[in-house]
Amino acid sequence: MKTNLSSSTPSQLETDCLVVVVLDRNEKDKSAPSVECDDAAVVAAAKDVIASGEVTGKIFETTLLHNPTGLKAKRLLLIGAGKAKDFSAAELRKIAGTAVRTLKSKSIRSFVFAYGSTVPSSFAIRAIVEGATIGDFDPGYYKSERKDKDKNPKIEAVTIVVQKDDEKSGQAALEIGRIIAESQNFTRDLVNEPSNLMTPTILAERTKKMASEVGLVCETYGSDKIKALKMGAFWGVAQGSDEPPALIVLRYDPVGAADKVHLGLVGKGVTFDTGGISIKPADGMEKMKYDMAGAATMIGAMRAIALLKPKVKVTAVILATENMPSGKAQKPGDVQIAMSGKSIEIINTDAEGRLILADGLYYARQLGCTHLVDAATLTGAVVVALGYVNAGIFASTDEMYERFAKANQQAGEKMWRLPLDDEYKELIKSNIADMVNAGSRYGGAIFAAMFLKEFAEDTPWIHLDIAGTAWMEENKPWIAKGPSGIALRSLVEFVKGWSA
Ligand code: BES
Ligand code: MN
Ligand code: ZN
Repeated sequence: MKTNLSSSTPSQLETDCLVVVVLDRNEKDKSAPSVECDDAAVVAAAKDVIASGEVTGKIFETTLLHNPTGLKAKRLLLIGAGKAKDFSAAELRKIAGTAVRTLKSKSIRSFVFAYGSTVPSSFAIRAIVEGATIGDFDPGYYKSERKDKDKNPKIEAVTIVVQKDDEKSGQAALEIGRIIAESQNFTRDLVNEPSNLMTPTILAERTKKMASEVGLVCETYGSDKIKALKMGAFWGVAQGSDEPPALIVLRYDPVGAADKVHLGLVGKGVTFDTGGISIKPADGMEKMKYDMAGAATMIGAMRAIALLKPKVKVTAVILATENMPSGKAQKPGDVQIAMSGKSIEIINTDAEGRLILADGLYYARQLGCTHLVDAATLTGAVVVALGYVNAGIFASTDEMYERFAKANQQAGEKMWRLPLDDEYKELIKSNIADMVNAGSRYGGAIFAAMFLKEFAEDTPWIHLDIAGTAWMEENKPWIAKGPSGIALRSLVEFVKGWSA
């Protein structure tokens, strides 16, 4: 998908479709739809349909007009953006995705987007490019019919209308948006792959290829190194699988980086989670191919970081393995010694994510990381707590939380903080070892986070539980059902916030 800017008058642009936003500038209970465009000809073209009452400005409402009077465009698409007072870049991002998904379903391959003047141009342009690129992602690439180009409509070009004065800064915003959204789609591609085509080895190869394309240093290691490093918690999970595990390290070390800051991004890369000996029920197990979404998010974030070049050192540590039952698999009751030396009694082999992350967090600290973020599809309990809407954030310090929340807000992703009080520590006590890996059903997401905290220790740390948000259960107007790429935009914004 090509994206570009134009400072022409919207009504004078020849295009298959001109897209404009309709806001509801309602007073009291009366809706008052208003077309957000400075061009009087565009407002006039929409006048009759607005007067008819068919258009309300309700969010994601779409109205398509053919041969609009006074416009050079073949069609005019009006997209509702909701109440004017709530309108921001976050809505604009979704509106752009809605435009893409609406038009591509009608085999329209290019359009012009005129966004009005409510959102400042650099925010608006970036949000539109991101939304359009994210909306263009199609998870159906193993469908045979997709090989037929006509049955696989893709948006070829999106033109965004800007003021002449904003063209230069707008171009920079467009580039940033493109890098971030293409990285998010890169992550979604990895997550979308079935586990037979996305083994730890394949994940390592795909990461290596990406790293060489964008200029990152990438090291990949197998079982020998994992054992040599004494990553007993990681190996405990990996030992049950015939498919070899992979430890992947990505390094970004720019000249002029901020002093004394070295960010560590740690990702859970379980390419398939059967539960192990504590096996999961068959119903819905196919979804456990997305249990590597945390890893894919960190890999995609590193791609964006390498291209955006913030001045801060960042290292990603990816732990990739399957979680399988077999004659070699770990069993409930086994004790594993983590890389840090702490002993863990395995109560449930399905609580595997926290085991691999325990060694990942500790290893990132050994590599010199001063601040840590991990992302993982860690618990079903976070879905019980927050549903499919918000990802869970855990933070070891308020300062880390504030920084992350700010980034999160700018990225337009939904996350909610959950607690890490010392009282919860009671939950992880074991009779025979330093801790258990699973306990009570209640507060399960917090339990998992408390367990991880034992390995982050005093290093400032954020944990993102994306189990409920990494996979979209339903199609939305702006995004396809399937892998969401959640957390990548917040992570990239967070990393940029540390730039010297
Ligand atoms: N990968 C799962 C968590 C998960 C659940 C991800 C739903 C995506 C959607 C994780 O490894 C797991 O199995 N967690 C268990 C932990 C329990 C055994 C303590 C869970 O949440 O049930
Ligand atoms: Mn599990
Ligand atoms: Zn898992």
